[in-house]
Amino acid sequence: MPRTILAMSHPLDLAGHCRLATGPGDLPCIHVANDLAAAEIHLNGGHVAHYQPRNDARPVLWTSGRSHWEAGQPIRGGIPVCWPWFGDSGPEGAPAHGIARTARWHWLGASALADGGTRIELGLEDEAGARRWWLHPFSLRLVLGVGHALDVALQVRNRAAEAVTWTGALHSYFAVSDARAVRVEGLEGCSYIDRLDHDAVKLQTGPVRFRAETDRIYRDSGATAWIVDEGWKRRIAVTKRGSGSTVVWNPWVAKSARMPDFGDDEWTGMCCVETARAGEDACTLGPGEGHELGVTIAVD
Ligand code: BG6
Repeated sequence: MPRTILAMSHPLDLAGHCRLATGPGDLPCIHVANDLAAAEIHLNGGHVAHYQPRNDARPVLWTSGRSHWEAGQPIRGGIPVCWPWFGDSGPEGAPAHGIARTARWHWLGASALADGGTRIELGLEDEAGARRWWLHPFSLRLVLGVGHALDVALQVRNRAAEAVTWTGALHSYFAVSDARAVRVEGLEGCSYIDRLDHDAVKLQTGPVRFRAETDRIYRDSGATAWIVDEGWKRRIAVTKRGSGSTVVWNPWVAKSARMPDFGDDEWTGMCCVETARAGEDACTLGPGEGHELGVTIAVD
């Protein structure tokens, strides 16, 4: 059984690496600070809201200054855990991007890693709230490694008696000097579904550059995509596993203005490169089967 944060038996301060804290909106979160990096992980959504290696002057993840910080609301930025459906592909009337990003996760444990990093484990079982939209029993684990790199592993187990199909994403938002000047490499030659052009299938030639609102599902994408940011002289490597699709998103001007939890001009400072199981890349698990959707994020 998962332990709740109020009834846990772990020491809250593990080798000085992490402690339970109160974040924006008084939300409970885990602050990680080790010799290699700092991070903030929210129990609401199992959400990594901040990650910064010690040797980098800037946060790697972007978070909106207009985000809601409320239990039951998604956090705008960081890494929302989208599951068991991606986007609006869930049941009619259900929230976008599934139930996991707004559910309250349980803190299951933490340990120091041999290289100086910290491992944190959160869990989410099928609960009454989740059952409103998703009838299949499930068990989720989110295993995070905070160190030279940030590693996020979403481990999904189907506890239903029948096969279950899900979609989802580790919807990472990255901080960039200027979205109009960065490029995303590693997706050259992939076909993609252009969600802003009636789901037309197109071919990526050269790196991805942001020139307008962008909302694409890249298919059969390779393991690593790089966000090359010459303005900040850094390159972020996004290396995924258990994922056949990569979503690239920037809302640009008009969509930013329509989103209440997104500043009108904030689109210039972010882009999303998401480790996904989206569209035809849905994952089917037989009874008792599991799958790990994972990403390692590292700054060169
Ligand atoms: C992206 C989708 O992954 O998430 C976009 O491809 C969507 O279509 C974006 O607009 C943000 O979604 P939400 O639900 O967090 O506003």
